[in-house]
Amino acid sequence: MTDVALVELHVNGERHDLAIPPRRTLADVLRHDLGLTGTHVGCEHGICGACTVLVDGAPARACLLFAIQVENAEIRTVESLADPDGGLSDLQQCFSEHHGLQCGFCTPGFLMLAEGYLAEEPEATREEIREVVASNLCRCTGYQTITDAIDDCASRRRAALQAALDTAPEPTAGSTA
Ligand code: FES
Ligand code: FES
Repeated sequence: MTDVALVELHVNGERHDLAIPPRRTLADVLRHDLGLTGTHVGCEHGICGACTVLVDGAPARACLLFAIQVENAEIRTVESLADPDGGLSDLQQCFSEHHGLQCGFCTPGFLMLAEGYLAEEPEATREEIREVVASNLCRCTGYQTITDAIDDCASRRRAALQAALDTAPEPTAGSTA
């Protein structure tokens, strides 16, 4: 049996070539090999969602995946949300404004869950958001403020999109665009 596998991972837009045990989890690789400690590990068996990252845009539990399974996927961790200069993303800003965190241990998982979900379902209703956040565990907030934050972010994104559409130039006569 091979003890080490050569694995090419694509994380937050960067390529990493790693020599790792085939059974090393994605969570361990992110945290210990790549130093991306924003991905938290709670239960380590798929229950809490603290380790949620995006795999090809879809939320996934990093503790339940071997890194080698996602070799050709685009991985995004919570570190990808903020601007390069450290400015918060709109979603992070909403969590801050709505007090969607207390101890913060669960927060990276909720952020990535919401980031993936809103990309897929930009018209999500508050009730739908409530159902989605039930997949992750938070012991502090009671979930209301997390739901408020995600719902507000969805509303802001819709408003921004509408504003962009409203100010887009009209197609000129004869244009096929
Ligand atoms: S640490 Fe992965 S689901 Fe809890
Ligand atoms: S903010 Fe503490 S577990 Fe969620």
